[in-house]
Amino acid sequence: MRPDKNELIQMLSLETDEELNELYKRAYEIKKSKVGTKVYFRGIIELSNICYKNCYYCGIRRGNPNFTRYTISMEEALTEAKWCYEQHYGSLVIQAGERTDKAWIDFVTELISGIKQLSDGKLGITLSLGEQSEETYQRWFDAGAHRYLLRIETTNQKLYKELHPQDHDFEYRMSCLRLLRKVGYQVGTGVMEGLPGQSIEDLADDILFFYDEDVDMLGMGPYIPHRDTPLGSLVEGFDKEKALKMGLKMIATCRIALQDVNIATTTALQALHPEGRELGLMAGANVLMPNITDTKYREEYQLYEGKPCLDENADQCIGCLARRITSIGETIGFDEWGDSLHYSKRKS
Ligand code: 5AD
Ligand code: SF4
Ligand code: FES
Repeated sequence: MRPDKNELIQMLSLETDEELNELYKRAYEIKKSKVGTKVYFRGIIELSNICYKNCYYCGIRRGNPNFTRYTISMEEALTEAKWCYEQHYGSLVIQAGERTDKAWIDFVTELISGIKQLSDGKLGITLSLGEQSEETYQRWFDAGAHRYLLRIETTNQKLYKELHPQDHDFEYRMSCLRLLRKVGYQVGTGVMEGLPGQSIEDLADDILFFYDEDVDMLGMGPYIPHRDTPLGSLVEGFDKEKALKMGLKMIATCRIALQDVNIATTTALQALHPEGRELGLMAGANVLMPNITDTKYREEYQLYEGKPCLDENADQCIGCLARRITSIGETIGFDEWGDSLHYSKRKS
């Protein structure tokens, strides 16, 4: 059933601890009955911080000269993927800034094939590489990727215009989401919460959009200002607690409204609170994406400030994460793709 907008607004407007705990509990019960309490891991490889785009909120935008641009070598990326496989992670995510040149498309294609080869086809591959042509989406799909994340960022088109330069087109991004579906990917999208000028009603509309587009996966997170961006002045006065609360409310409300989709508990939540990601799981999320990028690159991949684990390497994070998950009574879905049940049901 299509969610009721007023009910969504009501849930997103809750403020007292008591009301919020009720909301998180309700969402957790739905998560338990619809998708279970297994957390699926996707190791993230931050393949490159080179980006052709210039989104006003993002720390790695083209216009920020304050850090070194890198691209991980094929060999290093394959080593990271192999590590992921040996740790029994079911899947990994390849994430990078947006590039559409041939050399990049070829490089990614080769990497996808390489990962499939080294894992005997067993590692699931999710891509998060921005807007691309249908041909490119198809090439990467044929090479072995099967899920794609492309956040719509906000469905309020006026706000979208304010947060992006003129040549970043909302309609084009929409068309990319549909192309991904057409090619056959499991499609994930998401928004940022607490963007300047964004209202609760906008977030309710975002959830209706997820429903109408029938998305399989969600990756959302609070907007966290970054000093070296056109919105940098928002760093002063940024209210971490409020941002965290909005992030958790959005996870819970999406779980209640959309039921069987995969929802990620994102690193942005941990940037706001030491247990941010566990709180996300308790509010209804069921996917966690540990960063497996070598620490020597992590300083350079800061979309927002206060990103956690800049000094911990992947093997340190895994122990830490396993403890965190056991501590809240959940288990890890080792060696499983953990595909979105929403997707499997639509297909059957
Ligand atoms: N705060 C939080 N999330 C951000 N992103 C980019 N910049 C920020 C920020 N300052 C998110 C966007 C993008 C994803 C890769 O990171 O939603 O889609
Ligand atoms: Fe590039 Fe994505 Fe950052 Fe925009 S949000 S500047 S597309 S990395
Ligand atoms: Fe990185 Fe705990 S998750 S050290």
